[in-house]
Amino acid sequence: MDRRTFVRTTVAAGATAAGLSVSAEAAENKRVKIIGVACSPRKGKTTAVSILAALDAAKAVSPRIDVELVDLGGLDIAGWQGGAKPADGMSAVNDDFDMLLPKFQDPALGGLIIGSPSYFRTMSALCKAFLERLSVLRSPKLLLADKPVGALSVGAYRNGGQELVIEQILMAMLCHEVFAVGGKPSAHQGATLWNAHADDIMKDEFGIESARKLGARVAEAALKLA
Ligand SMILES: Cc1cc2nc3c(=O)[nH]c(=O)nc-3n(C[C@H](O)[C@H](O)[C@H](O)COP(=O)(O)O)c2cc1C
Repeated sequence: MDRRTFVRTTVAAGATAAGLSVSAEAAENKRVKIIGVACSPRKGKTTAVSILAALDAAKAVSPRIDVELVDLGGLDIAGWQGGAKPADGMSAVNDDFDMLLPKFQDPALGGLIIGSPSYFRTMSALCKAFLERLSVLRSPKLLLADKPVGALSVGAYRNGGQELVIEQILMAMLCHEVFAVGGKPSAHQGATLWNAHADDIMKDEFGIESARKLGARVAEAALKLA
């Protein structure tokens, strides 16, 4: 190898190594956003408070985590109406959904926590409508693919269908090729909350703890996958 080739090869190798360490550092410092969606028509009530508990715990996992609550309470979101053009990234229905859409298209989005009250042992109609409309994120590219998604549910009864609702939400989200995650031990299925104290959900210590365990697990997974 002549001197010129040696210098060229060595400099190029050094530049690649430096580039790699810069990009490794950038990846380590990359901010990761977790959005929690509260799917009760009652704004700020037990589902929203439970999501906030999960988001607080998510934030505590790392200074790289940013969190945001999206409370659907009071918003007008219709179910899928047909005739939309997912490729345009718009849903062709004139309601509040498109206003929310950019939050879920944000490249910093690293994970989702979706919560619904149990309504007759199923997710709320608002939750179903939201999930149907979220399908615009599946085409032309699966924007949510490989992101962790966890779910929580609140019911007025101790065994009011919370686990069923969690399963329904995760099942719908699997159509985005997400990674369904649960919570840390004792909340492995997700967070289950019992509204037994006239909407003061913070009094449900077990349930709030399960929300925290869910938030922590979603954040951990989001950091690993970012
Ligand atoms: C139409 C309807 C159906 C409900 N069905 C159930 C149910 O099957 N199981 C249950 O535990 N709670 C049920 N609830 C109670 C809600 O899940 C509970 O009050 C929850 O805390 C409401 O969430 P929010 O405070 O975020 O609005 C129902 C409430 C409504 C309005």
